Amino acid sequence: MQFKALLTTENNGSYQTQLVTRHVDELPPGELLIKVQYSCLNYKDALSTSGHPGITKNFPHTPGVDAVGTVAHSDSDDFTEGDAVIVTGHDFGMHTDGGLSQYIRVPAAWAIPLPQGLSAQQTMQLGTAGLTAGLSLLKLEAMGAKPGDSVLVTGATGGVGCLSVALLARCGYKAIASSGKAQYADKLKELGASEVIDRQQLSDASSKALLKPRWQHAIDCVGGETLVNIFKTLAPGGSVAASGLVASPQINATVYPFILRGINLLGIDSVGVGNASRLAVWQRLASDWQLQLPQDFITEIPLEQAYDYITQFKQGDIFGRIVVKIS
Ligand SMILES: NC(=O)c1ccc[n+]([C@@H]2O[C@H](COP(=O)([O-])OP(=O)(O)OC[C@H]3O[C@@H](n4cnc5c(N)ncnc54)[C@H](OP(=O)(O)O)[C@@H]3O)[C@@H](O)[C@H]2O)c1
Repeated sequence: MQFKALLTTENNGSYQTQLVTRHVDELPPGELLIKVQYSCLNYKDALSTSGHPGITKNFPHTPGVDAVGTVAHSDSDDFTEGDAVIVTGHDFGMHTDGGLSQYIRVPAAWAIPLPQGLSAQQTMQLGTAGLTAGLSLLKLEAMGAKPGDSVLVTGATGGVGCLSVALLARCGYKAIASSGKAQYADKLKELGASEVIDRQQLSDASSKALLKPRWQHAIDCVGGETLVNIFKTLAPGGSVAASGLVASPQINATVYPFILRGINLLGIDSVGVGNASRLAVWQRLASDWQLQLPQDFITEIPLEQAYDYITQFKQGDIFGRIVVKIS
């Protein structure tokens, strides 16, 4: 059987991505053959199609770290033909062919059932970014965060950042958005931010071990000096859920905020998290965490346009979520 997919090829260190016709026999091994309905775009897809070795080493490769669709063939007792499933994380779209493709084949352990209450399209409005926002809130709440608390969100116009702002607001938190793009302040407020601050306030190094507490908790997509400044500005007993490294993977911090204010650093790993937590977050996103996102926040595109939008991601030009309709 033949189908359409994006394919990135490498030639002497330069990378080219095109829509091609592939054959199902070219797909990697796995118990589930899935007909993809929707995928969506994440920053990782931009890294994958640029040959970032931490994301994708082997080419030719089909990018796309998220997909939702129906099982076309199952060699697993856990799924039968016609089941609606979500595939995110693990090695999907990284070293294994991903979701910007009409068909995918994956191990059954990589799929979870589409929860009742979410359509396939809504699932990809969220994708890995929404799952990461949900895992962050789940961990903050396990550490005592409660509606009404103030929560700083860094990298707020990004996928994880925007959806964290929307989710926090939906759940009754005071979401403070930190962004480098002043032109999107009104859009962030429309998503639910109660305040928008310039990310410069958090990006400069300070010689002080502690700064005035400014927020009870934080969701950080940025890393580096921003994360160090979050340690210094969290209220006593507060927690930061750290998922990203857009500024830097390096942190040069002291233990003072930890031992003098009892703050907590919580790691978020949407790729390797177990299916129980993954399912728990999707079920919340389908029920009491369900988001009504503004219409102009979602752009639906066909697979033919996916690479043009991935290119815009590389340039940092995207605000909002890009859903890719596959079939
Ligand atoms: N741990 C996990 O499971 C997990 C899951 C998903 C993503 N991630 C990571 O989380 C991060 C965000 O992912 P994403 O998909 O939301 O990316 P994204 O859509 O590209 O957003 C990143 C945002 O970070 C801000 N930013 C960019 N460069 C910056 C810099 N040099 N200094 C400070 N802020 C900067 C920008 O927001 P503003 O202009 O508004 O500041 C940008 O929109 C990435 O590092 C990604 O790899 C981790």
